[in-house]
Amino acid sequence: MAENGNNAWRVDRASVSILVAAGFLLGGGFADAQTVPHLSITQPGGMPGLPIMTGISRVTNGMKVTWDGPSGYYQVYQKSNNLLAPWVALGKATNLSRYAVITRLYTTDAFFRVSGPAPAYIGAQACAGCHDSIRNTELKTPHAGAFTDADFAAAGGQTNRSCLPCHTVGYGLPTGFVSKSRTPLLAGVQCENCHGPAANHAANENDPTVRPRVELAATVCGGCHTGPMSPTYDEWSTSAHATVTPDALQTMSSSTNNISSCGRCHSGSVRLALIYGKNPVTLSNDLNVAITCAVCHDPHSTNANPAQVRNPLHSTNYFSLSTSANFTNVYAANTNINICGQCHNVRGAAWTDTSRAPHRSPQYNFLLGSVGILWSGKTNYYSATYRPGTHGGLTNQCVYCHMQDDAPPASIASHTFAVISHDVCISCHGFDPGASAPGVYDNVSLVLDLLNRWAASPAAAALRTNGVVAWEYTSPGGLTWQTNQAGQVTSWTLADQVNFTGPDAAGQGLIPDNIKKARYDLYLVVNDGSLGTHNWTFALDLLTAAQNLVAQQLSP
Ligand code: HEC
Ligand code: HEC
Ligand code: HEC
Ligand code: HEC
Ligand code: HEC
Ligand code: HEC
Ligand code: HEC
Ligand code: HEC
Ligand code: HEC
Repeated sequence: MAENGNNAWRVDRASVSILVAAGFLLGGGFADAQTVPHLSITQPGGMPGLPIMTGISRVTNGMKVTWDGPSGYYQVYQKSNNLLAPWVALGKATNLSRYAVITRLYTTDAFFRVSGPAPAYIGAQACAGCHDSIRNTELKTPHAGAFTDADFAAAGGQTNRSCLPCHTVGYGLPTGFVSKSRTPLLAGVQCENCHGPAANHAANENDPTVRPRVELAATVCGGCHTGPMSPTYDEWSTSAHATVTPDALQTMSSSTNNISSCGRCHSGSVRLALIYGKNPVTLSNDLNVAITCAVCHDPHSTNANPAQVRNPLHSTNYFSLSTSANFTNVYAANTNINICGQCHNVRGAAWTDTSRAPHRSPQYNFLLGSVGILWSGKTNYYSATYRPGTHGGLTNQCVYCHMQDDAPPASIASHTFAVISHDVCISCHGFDPGASAPGVYDNVSLVLDLLNRWAASPAAAALRTNGVVAWEYTSPGGLTWQTNQAGQVTSWTLADQVNFTGPDAAGQGLIPDNIKKARYDLYLVVNDGSLGTHNWTFALDLLTAAQNLVAQQLSP
């Protein structure tokens, strides 16, 4: 096999080299955790067609070199810092992991080089016969038309070298796109942009060493969906969706039982495995895939939803995904539920729960007014079923406010998922309604005040132990408050940790149902996070119910 040959069309191996100052890196060192390697770089074109060095770090037993590139065998070489020294192969030429741990360093600042498969692109027509269903739908996506697109052609993109890397397959690489007339089958965005060059696989479909990569990381889309014209990846990277909540990651890592229960909403790899009916337990070393592009977008399919989103943007049916329910059945029956509501729901919480407050994710149920305990008449309490305010009736619901279009030149749906401007609010209200709904903050203070009064008396003496807040959940929900000299609550905040505890399991048995219902309503309002904006009158009604519930315990 030729190495670093000069005629790009004839090489079958491609290589990259890197200078490593190993001495400089001697401090520290971490164990070589065997996590699944993901594409760690972005580049125009998507999945790299050539090997690229991506990192070098010191691990307890040597140096870890990582690289990226298409699937296939790689070989690592080392040489001393003497420029005339020969390259010496390390290990066998059969590395499939795209990383190597080098335990015997020649010098403290050695050179490393990796050689791997040269790209061999072929085009989506070669996938026919074996992946027909994927190809048939993929051909109808905007990706397939990215080269023939009338606007792209009109802008001169078809012959502009600076446009081609993101609008064709393998532009600038051996066997990649050259021109419309010479390589018509490689025009547009196709399978090999996301999966890497796949000619060797199409010719040897049973050879596992050249099976194309299936990459869930956002980086595979990010190389193209970036920059001022289409800043989607850049925006997503700044959003909460770009990281797996550390607590959830820790809980999932602590026991395989938790992988499905938390990962269904917190980990992209787990959620996609569940959606495709696979057992996510085997993913224990691959939980740290966040809510990436492919979690919300089906990369192959065209469906009735905009932008290949897996679920619609609007729905009005009740939905809650508990941590224990059989995901496959629940998902199959509820693919018609709002994409955001798939995860931003009350997660099976009930007023009878005693260990912890409802999760901070009830937004879908809140928008529709379908969670919590409402009040009508002196002693008449009932479960909220469907009470959407005007905001719940918006055609795109969550997306309408949280994914407004960026300012030109981008003019595409913002992927920060934040409410980036109040222009949409002004379009209805005629003025900027501000960041919170009137009265909600003060009514939360009032409920806290009443609960604290109940805790002082008549709460059972056993609940009034020092350092215990008598009305709280066993793990408190995170509310803290300030009081004035008369002991009245004047302000409050929601924290991740508080320095007090709630009653233990036995103590929870001493808390009356009315107090349990009131604290449930209270935490639904604060954990919704919009201070009533999602559904104003509903928020006030929940807080009124909470006040009445506590009042009944104060003077039955
Ligand atoms: C002759 C049949 C055949 C052709 C042609 C073919 N494939 Fe495959 N492909 C397979 C088989 C068989 C597998 C392995 C499926 C498995 O193990 O679940 C596979 C696996 C894959 C996978 C990985 C799936 C996974 O879960 O790991 C990808 C991606 C893929 N093919 C893409 C392509 C692309 C892109 C083309 C066209 C360039 C192509 N294939 C052409 C038969 C084929
Ligand atoms: C090689 C570059 C490239 C890669 C890689 C890529 N895209 Fe695209 N994508 C484009 C281009 C170019 C278009 C515009 C096509 C057109 O409309 O002509 C597009 C369009 C889209 C659209 C359609 C937008 C609409 O208006 O309906 C979606 C959705 C999308 N991409 C999502 C993704 C996701 C998700 C990934 C990763 C799994 C990805 N893309 C990977 C270049 C890329
Ligand atoms: C870094 C990758 C990248 C480069 C380089 C690039 N584009 Fe794009 N282009 C995209 C992506 C991604 C989209 C899809 C944007 C979206 O829908 O969010 C797109 C969309 C477009 C569209 C809109 C297609 C439609 O739906 O009508 C046109 C036109 C276009 N590009 C023209 C060009 C031209 C002309 C050039 C060169 C001057 C160029 N692009 C260079 C990534 C790129
Ligand atoms: C825009 C990027 C993108 C394009 C284009 C694309 N894929 Fe994929 N593909 C993905 C991602 C991401 C996944 C994993 C998520 C999923 O399966 O929904 C995947 C999964 C797969 C799988 C394994 C899972 C399955 O559904 O069987 C196969 C096989 C596959 N793709 C083949 C193809 C073929 C063949 C084409 C072209 C006809 C293609 N892909 C085009 C991004 C892409
Ligand atoms: C039904 C989907 C869903 C399930 C199941 C789920 N979560 Fe969450 N979780 C969310 C959403 C959505 C947020 C973000 C809410 C926000 O920030 O407003 C979140 C936020 C969090 C937070 C940060 C906020 C806080 O409370 O401090 C932690 C920690 C967390 N989840 C842990 C877990 C753990 C651990 C599990 C499994 C036992 C789990 N979650 C199961 C959807 C879910
Ligand atoms: C696959 C599950 C999932 C889907 C789908 C989802 N989210 Fe999230 N979202 C989460 C989780 C989990 C978090 C918390 C992440 C963290 O705290 O690290 C979160 C965080 C957020 C936050 C930040 C909250 C904060 O406290 O800063 C917003 C805003 C948000 N999501 C809006 C949306 C919108 C809008 C949609 C629909 C377009 C959506 N989400 C779809 C799971 C999801
Ligand atoms: C009428 C516009 C509107 C709609 C519709 C809407 N939101 Fe919000 N949302 C807001 C505003 C305003 C806030 C307050 C925080 C802010 O300004 O960013 C907020 C707060 C949030 C938060 C807490 C964010 C944080 O930074 O703490 C999450 C999570 C969230 N919304 C998700 C959703 C989801 C999911 C939906 C759909 C079920 C939805 N929102 C519907 C306007 C809206
Ligand atoms: C939490 C879910 C979610 C995630 C994660 C997500 N998207 Fe989207 N995306 C959406 C929704 C919903 C829309 C439709 C917005 C609309 O129609 O207003 C959309 C729209 C788009 C569009 C069309 C934009 C337009 O206005 O024409 C593109 C392109 C796109 N997404 C690419 C990506 C890429 C690339 C990533 C990863 C970097 C990504 N998305 C991550 C939910 C998501
Ligand atoms: C479709 C039109 C529409 C849009 C868009 C809209 N609102 Fe509203 N909003 C209303 C109506 C009507 C009410 C009356 C009460 C209700 O339905 O709960 C309302 C009520 C409110 C309230 C509570 C009472 C009041 O009138 O002050 C607040 C606060 C609020 N909206 C804030 C927002 C914010 C912030 C946004 C943008 C992020 C927004 N609204 C977007 C129509 C809209």
